[in-house]
Amino acid sequence: MRAAQLCLHWWLPPRRNYPLAARPVAVHTNGPTQGSPLSMPGRTTHARLATFIEEMKALCKPDNVHICDGSQAEYDRLCNMMVESGTLIRLNATKRPGSFLARSDVRDVARVEDRTFICSNNKGDAGPTNNWVEPTTMKATLRKLFDGCMRGRTMYVVPFSMGPLGSPIAKLGVQITDSPYAVVNMRIMTRMGQGALDVLGDNGEFVPCVHSVGRPLAPGDQDPRWPCNPDSIHIAHFPETREIWSFGSGYGGNALLGKKCLALRIASVMGRDQGWLAEHMLIVGVENPSGDKAYVAAAFPSACGKTNFAMMVPPPGFEGWKVWTVGDDIAWIKPGTDGKLYAINPEAGFFGVAPGTGAKTNPNAIATLHANCIFTNVALTDDGDVWWEGLTETPPAHLIDWKGEDWTPSKGSPAAHPNARFTAPVSQCPSVDPKWEDPAGVPISAFIFGGRMSKDQPLVYQAFNWSHGVYLAATMGSEATAAAVGQAAMRRDPFAMLPFCGYNMADYFNHWLNVGRKIPNPPRIFRVNWFRKGDDGKFMWPGYGENMRVLAWVIDRVKGRGYAIESPLGWMPRHEDIQWKGLDFDAEKFQELMGVAKESGNTEAHQHEELFDRFFDRLPKEFVYERELLRSRLWRSPDRWDGLPGGL
Ligand code: GTP
Ligand code: SPV
Ligand code: MN
Repeated sequence: MRAAQLCLHWWLPPRRNYPLAARPVAVHTNGPTQGSPLSMPGRTTHARLATFIEEMKALCKPDNVHICDGSQAEYDRLCNMMVESGTLIRLNATKRPGSFLARSDVRDVARVEDRTFICSNNKGDAGPTNNWVEPTTMKATLRKLFDGCMRGRTMYVVPFSMGPLGSPIAKLGVQITDSPYAVVNMRIMTRMGQGALDVLGDNGEFVPCVHSVGRPLAPGDQDPRWPCNPDSIHIAHFPETREIWSFGSGYGGNALLGKKCLALRIASVMGRDQGWLAEHMLIVGVENPSGDKAYVAAAFPSACGKTNFAMMVPPPGFEGWKVWTVGDDIAWIKPGTDGKLYAINPEAGFFGVAPGTGAKTNPNAIATLHANCIFTNVALTDDGDVWWEGLTETPPAHLIDWKGEDWTPSKGSPAAHPNARFTAPVSQCPSVDPKWEDPAGVPISAFIFGGRMSKDQPLVYQAFNWSHGVYLAATMGSEATAAAVGQAAMRRDPFAMLPFCGYNMADYFNHWLNVGRKIPNPPRIFRVNWFRKGDDGKFMWPGYGENMRVLAWVIDRVKGRGYAIESPLGWMPRHEDIQWKGLDFDAEKFQELMGVAKESGNTEAHQHEELFDRFFDRLPKEFVYERELLRSRLWRSPDRWDGLPGGL
């Protein structure tokens, strides 16, 4: 407990003074919200917030302003309003109580990386992997786009906390938005409303977040079901002034600004400056039958299995083991004074990929989704429930697909969009960890990094030490998830943070190296790959719950119990080092799965060099030596290393 308290202290944000005396904000709620529970909205005496609201009102020129209090009544009122306007469909109250379906514009279905910008003062601080525009130029562009962009609409003011309310680890944000869909999603994904305003008080610090779907309404204009402006999307971040401006999209990470924009891009910059880490990681607790528990954080790129791993159900043979969910997408990690790294999930909800989520692959997610959820771009059943590919083995005979069209199994196109998502409260997850809201966080024993690689990359291996681990994470590759057919297009996705690092990625690598240097016994680092395919094109590893076998070996290694041998890539388990009870997976199959071909290893090392060249002189020197060590281990290895004693 002592460590936890000290750790808490560590999270205290620097204090700033605000010059203006606090004054209450005047709010009017007329138009469609008049006479509703919205007439008692959130209240604040925060002077800088009041100024921010006034400035945004003057710029965006909305018809109304509404400060959100985050109440259930407000949420219900907004959902009802969207049902009336056609943006939401209320689902069957018996099958899916309190839940809704939204269908987006077909041009607005995912994050847009090429319209995402890091507007640091210097281009070098954004680095070669981010789009950069000089901040005053971007501000000028944004001012033009936002001028009058909320005409005919209500401007919502959404105060929110990333991290438990009032906890010193939390960061506060205020999102201005003209999307009621974003408001109700933010209420699930964050701690939103009056509670956040109360914590802000008269002069608390907050990250201003400005969002518009970019579709003003002229008098008499018909509002589209999903207003957006796909041709003008800008997702802009100002790391020095810690501001976020998002225009043109209403979908996911583009519109729920607490998530990728604040909790990853801006928070990663805060972490660099303050000595902590903001990561694209799930957090789980693993408990063995004797009640020993260890926490693990794992980074996989988008749509590569974080949600599944975070809610894992141990397979037959692992009776008495339990996997507890802390988070499925984002981890904030800070060193405690006891030398351990403590992680929290800054979110309060899951915004998870629906397709592929079924009773077999992820029963905990299915249970989480029983009520109070928002589904986006999934299919609608004839009895008013939802469906997506993988929910059941046999699809229903008739559906309305994500585009709102009739669908039968013979149609040939997926009924749900591949990036269809559910928004669900973390608290509804049956495997939620008792400490998921602990402001002190949970102590991390291991980091796992895994891409989607159909070839060459073994199931699991362990880094030799911290700097080798940072190298393994930095050089992680993953195949494009949208292009499932045809040639596998692989890209390097360092730390699964390529789209989310708010500063120069080489500085980020150095930051990771520094964090490890400063603590006495840093977590062990592992690489995994659930997606290796055989010559028959099928996955070689059953995955999902069976990943528990890998996780158990990871925990064994951390606790100093597990065995491994040295491979060219890192420490690897032999067949006998993995617990196989309940699964028929013989040594020969395992060797196939773990084998390292010398030639592909050399190609890989060469590609690392190409990746590093992009970072010039900011690249950590350690990486050059790590690459040469990899090369020399490959040089000594047989043409195909498969872990057999003869191969050594
Ligand atoms: P974001 O929310 O986009 O950050 O991604 P996520 O990492 O949470 O994605 P999610 O867990 O929803 O990944 C879903 C995809 O991973 C689906 O295509 C699943 O079928 C696949 N998947 C998850 N676990 C496994 C596994 O163990 N083996 C295989 N082969 N596929 C898996
Ligand atoms: C991701 O793309 O990694 C997500 C979904 O978690 S979104 O919030 O839309 O970015
Ligand atoms: Mn994600």
